[in-house]
Amino acid sequence: MATPHINAADDAFAATCLLPGDPLRAKFIAENYLEAVTCVTSLRNMLGFTGYYKGHPISVMGTGMGMPSCVLYSTELMKFYGVQRLVRVGSCGAIDATLRLNDIIIAHCASTDSNMNRKCFTGMDYSAAASPRLLQKLLNYVDREEVDVAVGQVFSTDSFYNFPAEQLQVLQDMGIVAVEMEAAGLYAAAAKYKAQALTVLTVSDSLLTDEHLAAADREAGFSNMIGLTLEALVT
Ligand code: HPA
Repeated sequence: MATPHINAADDAFAATCLLPGDPLRAKFIAENYLEAVTCVTSLRNMLGFTGYYKGHPISVMGTGMGMPSCVLYSTELMKFYGVQRLVRVGSCGAIDATLRLNDIIIAHCASTDSNMNRKCFTGMDYSAAASPRLLQKLLNYVDREEVDVAVGQVFSTDSFYNFPAEQLQVLQDMGIVAVEMEAAGLYAAAAKYKAQALTVLTVSDSLLTDEHLAAADREAGFSNMIGLTLEALVT
């Protein structure tokens, strides 16, 4: 049965779903990494696909940008389509001096300036964390394969533009390594629906050096991240 934002059949999604923000990234992942792919939803052009990676059923769906959009789509995937493992694959702005463009970060937890989780948690501060088992699965893989990946706390902000410069130091002081826009909402939503969630990010910007990956240069780093995430999920 279609939901307000997903027009897929009841059994259209696999239990594991990758979540890029950009629906065209979802299409790219489906076409380049999965086999026997079907486009299962296209409402509002927020494309979703299901196929197989090395014989394992995997879905991939765009979420749009920011917590309201990501939480909306991930909630419908969990609540109506039985998705149990959600892995955001996105980009971030580094605020840690050791990180370089194209580095990969696994976000083990996410602080936020959004009010979304507080609203659900009756005004209290929720500790938005990745699912330990999913985190462990990715970490086991990167350790085993000796892949160079950072693990760190991120900050999920509502503001891509006009991010207050004076906040940077506060975030750095608290050990946060990068800024993005979805993880804190995804982690809280997954907790509510008893699903597992994780966020894997590629550094596309540095808020310290003001370097930015051009759109055309994002593909290489993005592809590394997708390859390692899929391998880790199925091994
Ligand atoms: N800020 C927030 N989200 C982002 C950024 C950024 O600089 N880069 C990529 N996602």
